[in-house]
Amino acid sequence: MSYNIKITPIEKSKIDTVDINNIIMGFSFSDHMFICDYHDGEWQNPRIEPLALIPTHPAAMALHYGQAIFEGMKATLGKDGTPLLFRPDENAKRLNFSADRMGMPTFPEDLFVESLKKLVAMEKNWIPTKEGSALYLRPFMYADEAFIGMRAATSFKFIVMASPSGPIYSHKIKLYAETKYIRAANGGTGEAKAAGNYAAAIRPTEYAKSKGYDQVLWLDAQDFEYIQEVGTMNIFFKIAGKFITPSLTGSILSGITRMSVIDVLRDKGYEVTERQITITEIKEAFANGTLEEAFGAGTAVGIAMIQEIGNGDFTLKFPEENPVSEMVKQTLNDIKLQKIEDKFGWIVEAK
Ligand code: COI
Repeated sequence: MSYNIKITPIEKSKIDTVDINNIIMGFSFSDHMFICDYHDGEWQNPRIEPLALIPTHPAAMALHYGQAIFEGMKATLGKDGTPLLFRPDENAKRLNFSADRMGMPTFPEDLFVESLKKLVAMEKNWIPTKEGSALYLRPFMYADEAFIGMRAATSFKFIVMASPSGPIYSHKIKLYAETKYIRAANGGTGEAKAAGNYAAAIRPTEYAKSKGYDQVLWLDAQDFEYIQEVGTMNIFFKIAGKFITPSLTGSILSGITRMSVIDVLRDKGYEVTERQITITEIKEAFANGTLEEAFGAGTAVGIAMIQEIGNGDFTLKFPEENPVSEMVKQTLNDIKLQKIEDKFGWIVEAK
């Protein structure tokens, strides 16, 4: 279906106020945003406007009951300067999975991709060219109906904004294996990219940081034994030459970087198994010398090499060298910059 996206361009770009190739993620925003309203049972008035504050009623239901979901994506520039998106159809599907879980309306997947293409084409000058940098895209949906009471809202906003971002980690990271707090239990909202999942993680993450760790390694809600995911990413281990990653058992986010890493590794001839993984077996692999590499995989962080997992009771240190993890990181970066062939068909031109 073709949509009529109304475009109101900004009078003067703010691009001169930012050094986009030398920028910390999350603080700067591009000139425009895409907005679409849901009321009377349908999505209406898709438009691109100058990024601005949004008037919000104090009773807006997202503020009280947390009907809020989001996605994370990155736009890069291809070899001839064309803006590129990475697997936007997968983000569209996951947004709708989250919407369904949270009692929110789904968003037309073709309009999702169209909105991103149009916005990114307009914000082309905001795409950093430095390797490891990108224009981070944040599609999100929230309930903006003013109502006090516990039911699904009837009006929502879907918005996409863009933020030029440098790499989050230039160092290997340390993970705090959390044994007091949990992120998600089966039947909860852990599979959805719901804002509330991140809210619940903030306090434990601050605690982990105060102890010198970068992010939390979440364990299962029952026994604190099965590895789930890391604060903002999924996790992979290489043990005795083979890769394992936690299977999606109902409380883990299905990362788009995660699914891409599995394909890249298998394409390079590595065995990758999705299964339940215990922290005990990771400790055993460390003790018997077969724990070779580990990395986190997420849109914002990309591939983050893991240096250490611990929590005061134990410490697992990973080998200095992580050649296969580096290969995965390089391959994904090279696909996104069209330095190598996109044999998986993941790249979508934004024009
Ligand atoms: C992403 O990786 O895009 C995320 O959504 C994580 C975010 C909390 C920074």
